[in-house]
Amino acid sequence: MKTHPDTSRQSRRVVAAPHRLPLVGHALLLARNPLDFLASLPAHGDLVELRIGTKPAYLPCRPELVQQVLLNARVYDTGGPVKEKARPILGNGLITSDWADHRRQRRMVQPAFHATRIAAYAEVMHEECSAHADTWTAGQPVDVSDAMQALTARVTARSLFSTEMAPHSVAEIQRSLPVMVRGAYRRAVDPTGLLARLPLAANREFDTALGRLHALIDGIVGDYRRSGEDRGDLLSALLAARDDEDGGRMSDQEIHDQVMTLLLAGVETTASALTWAWHLLASHPEAEARLHAEVDEVLGGRAPTYADVPRLAYTQRVFTETLRLYPPAWMFTRMTAEPTELGGHLLPSGTDVLISPYVIHRIPELFARPAAFDPDRWLPERAQDVARGSYLPFGGGSRKCIGDVFGMTEATLALAALASRWRLRPVPGTVVKARAGMSLTAGPLPMVPEPR
Ligand code: HEM
Repeated sequence: MKTHPDTSRQSRRVVAAPHRLPLVGHALLLARNPLDFLASLPAHGDLVELRIGTKPAYLPCRPELVQQVLLNARVYDTGGPVKEKARPILGNGLITSDWADHRRQRRMVQPAFHATRIAAYAEVMHEECSAHADTWTAGQPVDVSDAMQALTARVTARSLFSTEMAPHSVAEIQRSLPVMVRGAYRRAVDPTGLLARLPLAANREFDTALGRLHALIDGIVGDYRRSGEDRGDLLSALLAARDDEDGGRMSDQEIHDQVMTLLLAGVETTASALTWAWHLLASHPEAEARLHAEVDEVLGGRAPTYADVPRLAYTQRVFTETLRLYPPAWMFTRMTAEPTELGGHLLPSGTDVLISPYVIHRIPELFARPAAFDPDRWLPERAQDVARGSYLPFGGGSRKCIGDVFGMTEATLALAALASRWRLRPVPGTVVKARAGMSLTAGPLPMVPEPR
């Protein structure tokens, strides 16, 4: 019998993920071992149907399908269980706003990430990275995860608020932000919604941390409003922003929500990737030696500045490759706002779509020897072979990470500043395993600094 070619193609392309259980579907697998499970799915088909409980969710496993989702933000709007639960915590900022509101918000926030502003934030990055290099002592182990989190919290807080309130606000953010991020993730992945209502110590801690952050941000926004001064920082840029379509400004509440969003989105992501970069460098001595050679040649012993970033090409390739192997935003979600077709399959309105950079970055047809750490795959002559849409650590389309250049600049300066003075050695016996939480982290990672 002759099979219609379109039909056979369609049935091969949309497949049900294996190991589905009654009632819970794939929820347990996703909770327990999401990375291995998700990475096994592209072998089954181009678009894989999972069940979270009894509700279907779709994982596109080809770059063209991912692009179709990301480039059509009106149909594939923000949403899904994670985003819904984030709204009470983050308010209505860039991450949580729906399509129509997002367009206005993005127009308003974008100028705060203009290249001239990044140059000013890079001054803070330069100071903080050099100061951090002074805090290490030869032979005394540091938890690199904590160290990178502290560094990126300081950089983000000082880029946001450069005022005399900075020392207090930096300390508060360092203290409360990790508690808030952990609690937000626990709530996001709790399918029952009950966890948040139980009288647990973790919930009390979360409420306190969130309350402190809200109070801190309110206080600072009020202070800036009263002074009316442009301090060259991110918050001043947000306060000065005018919508070029209707001339409006953001209200205090809108600014508050954007600040909260920037803290949540900008600190742990960059810190996790930096932590992975140190781990990868320590386990690839050849790459480490090349990075050292570059920082020695470009910096000659001084601390790196914004002007050095373009010359730190290998350092940037190391970070780019780190983001491929361990993308901090390992999965994010969309929800269809109307019925639509994806990979030959009709998705009704309200369908969850899961986008996983981790999955796409490890498909062998897209990246040769995908598990290998090979920074040179990002040399310009080789990078041109990378298929469009197959490298997405910062997402894509109109909701692409607004802090991509900020994060890349910060990471390049941090790697160069620290590697020009220190080599980090693993502590024998430490087992490193990727943990998929709000970001893809390495967990606690003790390493020993050796002076270079
Ligand atoms: C290596 C570091 C970073 C990674 C891997 C990363 C990754 C991402 C990804 C994948 C998205 C898109 C999520 C989606 O489409 O649902 C995103 C959005 C976002 N990121 Fe980043 N990010 C990083 C650093 C930063 C930094 C430093 C900031 C701010 C200072 C930031 C602020 C944001 C914001 C506000 C959004 C929402 C943008 C929008 O919807 O318009 N990120 N990020």
